[in-house]
Amino acid sequence: MRDYKIAPSILSADFSRLGEDVQNVIEAGADFIHFDVMDNHYVPNLTFGPLVCSALRSFGIDNIIDVHLMIKPVDRIIPEFAKAGANYITFHPEATDHIDRTISHILEQKCKPGIVFNPATPLTYLEHCIDKVDMILLMSVNPGFPGQKFIESTYVKIKKVREIIDKSGREIRLEVDGGINLDNIEKVARAGADTFVAGSAIFNSEDYTATISKMRSILSKI
Ligand code: DX5
Ligand code: ZN
Repeated sequence: MRDYKIAPSILSADFSRLGEDVQNVIEAGADFIHFDVMDNHYVPNLTFGPLVCSALRSFGIDNIIDVHLMIKPVDRIIPEFAKAGANYITFHPEATDHIDRTISHILEQKCKPGIVFNPATPLTYLEHCIDKVDMILLMSVNPGFPGQKFIESTYVKIKKVREIIDKSGREIRLEVDGGINLDNIEKVARAGADTFVAGSAIFNSEDYTATISKMRSILSKI
C-alpha cells in the first residue's frame, strides 16, 4: 500500500474559529493541512496569507502544512510563508515568469517545492523540474472555489504523472485537489495519487472522524 495522506483543505473550515476547527480535523485523523492561498488576481477569490498560517502554528497546529499558492506573482511571499511555518509550498507555473527560480527560492527557505497543474495545463513543464520538486499537484477542478465537481479527465493525467514519477525514481508526492469525496477517492488512488485534498467532503460532513475513517478504510483495501 502506498503511504497515503489525507489533506483537508481549510478553505471549507469555520473561519470564525479556525484554530479549533483545524485541531478537530487533526484529531479526526487528518495528515496534512492543505492551505489554499488566493489573491483575487490569479484566481477569482481571496482567502488568507502567512499571518493566518503563523496563527495556526501559534495555536499549536504541528502537522505538515501544505501551502497551495494561487497567487501571482509568487516569489515575494515565499520567505514569509517559510517563516510562518509552511512545509510544502506549491505554485502554478502560469503564475511565475521563472519556474526554476521560484523552486530555488522555496528550497533556499528549506521548504519542499511543488508544481501545480490546472485541468488544461500541459505536463510538459515537468520535463525540466522533476529533479527538484517534492510534490506534483493535479487540480481536478479549476482553482478558486471549494465544492466543485471533479473533472473526469483528471484520471488520465494522474496515471501519466504516476508513470513520470516512477520513472524518475524520486520520492515525489502526487496530490490531487478538487471534488474528492467518498465516492471517487478509490478511483483517484487507483489512478496513482497518494495525497488527497478534500475540503467540503470533510468540513461539510457531520462527523469528521467518520468521514476520514471511511476514506482510510477505502484506501486500505487498495
Ligand atoms: C480549489 C482549492 C481546493 C478546494 C478543494 O481552488 O485549491 O483545495 O478547496 O475543495 P473541495 O474538496 O471542496 O473541492
Ligand atoms: Zn488547493
